[in-house]
Amino acid sequence: MSVKIPKQTVLNPTIPMGVTILGGLHPGEMVLIQGSVPADADRFQVDFMCGSSVKPRADIAFHFNPRFTKNQIVCNTLQREYWGREEIHYVMPLRKGAGFEIIVLVEKDMYKVAINGAHVLEYKHRIDLAKVDTLTVSGKVQIQAIGFIPSTSLTEGEGSAVKGSGAQASAMLEDSGDLSLPFRGKMVKGLSLGQTITVKGQVGIHSHSFGVNLRVGNSEDIALSLNPRLKVGVFIRNSYLSDCWGPEENTLPSFPFSPGDYFEMIIMCEVQQFKVAVNGIHQLNYKHRVQDLSRINELEIFGDLQLLEVKMW
Ligand code: GAL
Repeated sequence: MSVKIPKQTVLNPTIPMGVTILGGLHPGEMVLIQGSVPADADRFQVDFMCGSSVKPRADIAFHFNPRFTKNQIVCNTLQREYWGREEIHYVMPLRKGAGFEIIVLVEKDMYKVAINGAHVLEYKHRIDLAKVDTLTVSGKVQIQAIGFIPSTSLTEGEGSAVKGSGAQASAMLEDSGDLSLPFRGKMVKGLSLGQTITVKGQVGIHSHSFGVNLRVGNSEDIALSLNPRLKVGVFIRNSYLSDCWGPEENTLPSFPFSPGDYFEMIIMCEVQQFKVAVNGIHQLNYKHRVQDLSRINELEIFGDLQLLEVKMW
């Protein structure tokens, strides 16, 4: 199934806030945090914690701490009241006075953090994921919503989940389905805001091109056609509506695919546009040409590639 149904949400909490994560955290799950940074912010933190004890202070498995004074993000773990070795990232994709969307993807070995659709950092587990049961947010930040989103996948054909062919596939994808091409996956409720589609694959060694289409069911319409053309190094984006192709969009600073290479493409559905990242780097925006997102309900992948995993949440 393909719908993004949070198992738990928190709306407009007063900061500092803390919440017990119902059922704990599991690989494949995501935590979606929407908020904004006040203009006078110096820092805030999102802490994945083991309990909520104040004295002695509960362990913090993952401390995610943007610091605006130094334009860096500090990550760390607190154990038995002591901070460990800091992992400092000298990037600041968050802007003072602006909104943000942070996605923390929980994996077996690490947390992966994306901000506004682009991968930002990874943090390897230092404390067993099974011990994490509390999320807190504190410091100079406003939070509109936090969603805990279970691992889900697309259905292909009649109710079967997409199968992951490699070790990287999440448990929910492993049992049935088929990643052979052309691939068609059905989004049960159509697209909606905030949804993200991840396509992992390996470009064919002699690849001419491949395509990822977001289609309007029961029609020939394609809301978003993503078509990397390897031989010419151009990444074409377009829509096919009412029996004709629209104006092509093809500019990019550099072409992100190479023959034979593994890639991860993330397509994120926002209010005005799709955002596409490849290998963790934001590539392009594509303004919606099909406004009713719920009509976009099929994912099609074809061409010269080996498909390794398809996920949607
Ligand atoms: C300390 C700071 C803590 C925490 C920690 C992370 O210097 O006081 O709030 O951010 O660094 O290593």
